[in-house]
Amino acid sequence: MALTVQYAAGPSRNAFRFSYFQFIFSLLVGLSSAQLSPDFYSETCPDALSIIKTTVSAAVDSNPQMGAVMLRLHFHDCFVNGCDASILLDDTANFTGEKTAGPNGNSVMGYDVIDSIKAGLENSCPGVVSCADIISIAARDSVVLLGGPSWSVLLGRRDSTTASLTAANTNIPGTNSNLNQLISSFSNKGLSTRDLVALSGSHTIGRARCKLFRDRIYQGANINASYASFLQAKCPQSGGDNTFIPLDTTTPISFDNAYFKNLKGQKGLLHSDQQLFIGGVTDSIVDTYSSDYSIFSRDFANAMVKLSNLSPLTGRRGQIRKNCRKIN
Ligand code: HEM
Ligand SMILES: *[C@@H]1O[C@H](CO)[C@@H](O)[C@H](O)[C@H]1NC(C)=O
Ligand SMILES: *[C@@H]1O[C@H](CO)[C@@H](O)[C@H](O)[C@H]1NC(C)=O
Repeated sequence: MALTVQYAAGPSRNAFRFSYFQFIFSLLVGLSSAQLSPDFYSETCPDALSIIKTTVSAAVDSNPQMGAVMLRLHFHDCFVNGCDASILLDDTANFTGEKTAGPNGNSVMGYDVIDSIKAGLENSCPGVVSCADIISIAARDSVVLLGGPSWSVLLGRRDSTTASLTAANTNIPGTNSNLNQLISSFSNKGLSTRDLVALSGSHTIGRARCKLFRDRIYQGANINASYASFLQAKCPQSGGDNTFIPLDTTTPISFDNAYFKNLKGQKGLLHSDQQLFIGGVTDSIVDTYSSDYSIFSRDFANAMVKLSNLSPLTGRRGQIRKNCRKIN
């Protein structure tokens, strides 16, 4: 305010300068630190949250598996250059997106659910709600519908105008990762070892195909023998690559802490799951989560907020796609 005083030539001039500087100042703040907020759409699309929830509920009610699909979609979006809906862009003759990346191809689904949510939103408030925010809210709603914790999703992400097949192939951790690789792949995204364990608890719902854990069940290390033979019967050494097996062998459609109890009994399905309980630094976190659901669910919700806030496009960056599958 020293400036205002220095240049003041009279009361009205003073008032003019004050509001002028204040205006420029707020403009700069607005542009440089545009932030996510829980009520981002409260004026522009007040029914956004309920429109999304209605469609997600219908999808999960008719097939609980869709809840797992929505949650994984969010993870695979956010780990590749941030939560920007890059994963939703379809390949075209002159553009290759992320859908055919190793971890996504023939595996990530739910694009049609996002399309129907988007159609409902475009109908109510055209051009307002981003595809990236839709994914983030749909993941939260899915977890809640399957009995897990809720959290407030910060909103205002915008959609990318590009995607990266290479980043999808390198940033999303693979099922054969060892513990150190898992820890560093999460730490590369600013997520702690505890976040890694909490977020891996997502595998308390959903399923995986035989070809992604066959080595583990025939190799015999760190796996309960009767669980291994149960799995071998479903996943022969050759054939049945795409047979789906629940990631949580006890309660596959409830969002609970059974995943961690399974790990303690050497009954993690994926190599990467069991790595969290092999005598390493994450054992004690698995112990805690397996014995206390409330600690797991609190940490999971906090870690989901961190995951869903990874490098959002805000302010004037990116766009609000009209159709989540292509740029405007
Ligand atoms: C820690 C490293 C992780 C690895 C290596 C991993 C790997 C996998 C693999 C291989 C599948 C099965 C895919 C298929 O059969 O096509 C899967 C499924 C799933 N993953 Fe992960 N994942 C990891 C972390 C996460 C995280 C952090 C989340 C969510 C925040 C998540 C959510 C899911 C869900 C919900 C499914 C089931 C999807 C369905 O049933 O359609 N995963 N994951
Ligand atoms: C890419 O292909 C689309 C049709 O799929 C076309 O509309 C667009 O102009 C093409 N862009 C370039 C840069 O060639
Ligand atoms: C493996 O799992 C079976 C079935 O749940 C259980 O009876 C057995 O005790 C487990 N084996 C070991 C070594 O913990």
